[in-house]
Amino acid sequence: MKESPVGQDQATCLLHSELLISGEAIQRRIAEMAVHIDRAYRGRRIVVVGVLKGAVHFLSDLTRCLSVDQRLEFVRVATYKNSTHAVVSARPEVFSDFDVTGQDVLVVDDILDHGQTARAVRDCLEARQPRSIRWAILLVKDGAIERAGFRPDFIGFEIHDTFVVGYGLDYCERYRNVPDIYAFEESQPD
Ligand code: IMP
Ligand code: MG
Repeated sequence: MKESPVGQDQATCLLHSELLISGEAIQRRIAEMAVHIDRAYRGRRIVVVGVLKGAVHFLSDLTRCLSVDQRLEFVRVATYKNSTHAVVSARPEVFSDFDVTGQDVLVVDDILDHGQTARAVRDCLEARQPRSIRWAILLVKDGAIERAGFRPDFIGFEIHDTFVVGYGLDYCERYRNVPDIYAFEESQPD
């Protein structure tokens, strides 16, 4: 994949990318997920842990659809990627030394691919001895559940094993702000 020239607008950059999931479809699905999540935690108070940066829009939209009593925390996972952008190692960074001991944790993340990020977050949280950890992940790539060795509790969409951008997901830190999700194909400048 080749970088587009700096300053080229996003619509032009995404000209050769296929629209996979529209912003409207994302919002509809999030509302459905929220019903399931509220039901799973009825009568409880939860700690929502958002994984930066990719989960930022999903986290924001999902938590505003939830009615369960909740507290919000963040982790960031520093990932090191190879030339095909697969995550080769993942190291969690917790911003504040938040306490989840004996509490119900809902981790919110953008996408499950090889599961390195999820493993890093899980290890970091399990060390703090929560009562439970559940996962809400917007996108799960084909084969990711097998690769990662776990199935998220709440899944937005299952997609082909392809590189996607938009709605928080980036390519070289770009396109996170795009409201829809695209199967990314770098447009070649003339
Ligand atoms: P994993 O650790 O291999 O499961 O990869 C998950 C992380 O890699 C996600 O949280 C994203 O930050 C990033 N990632 C994986 N696949 C994609 C993609 O298709 N587009 C953008 N980022 C991705
Ligand atoms: Mg991420």
